[in-house]
Amino acid sequence: MKNEERRTKNEEKDWEPKIVGFLCNWCSYAGADLAGTSRLEYPPNVRIIRVPCSGRVNPLFVIKCLMKGVDGVLISGCHIGDCHYSEGNFYARRRFAILKRLLEYLGIDSRRFQMSWISASEGDKWAKVVKELVEEIKQAGPNNLVDS
Ligand code: FES
Repeated sequence: MKNEERRTKNEEKDWEPKIVGFLCNWCSYAGADLAGTSRLEYPPNVRIIRVPCSGRVNPLFVIKCLMKGVDGVLISGCHIGDCHYSEGNFYARRRFAILKRLLEYLGIDSRRFQMSWISASEGDKWAKVVKELVEEIKQAGPNNLVDS
């Protein structure tokens, strides 16, 4: 076995997915915070970006993350009907349903982009979503769509 092949095998073995999570300030961010203060255990793979509302997330943010080598992107906001700006998550839901289909059309594994609705009192749901997401991204493997 050549050195390069050996290095690649070791890198694969040690590989941990990098995931970016865009979390709405009012619900999901507070839910993630609750998971932390409740000392729930979940993988540390998600780097959180706090946004005022899921409706604030531009689809280009997701595309840029994937082009920069992030392995997965999560958008999380208030439950439908609970958005603090009335309809921000309605826009987000519609917008990202289209983006997901576009990513699939472009040949990007749909597991790399996910949405979830998590309230401030659902720390346990946050931990569960992150565990499942990390497992799915591990199955999808490293993102090779890196911007040069
Ligand atoms: Fe949370 Fe709009 S304020 S989704």
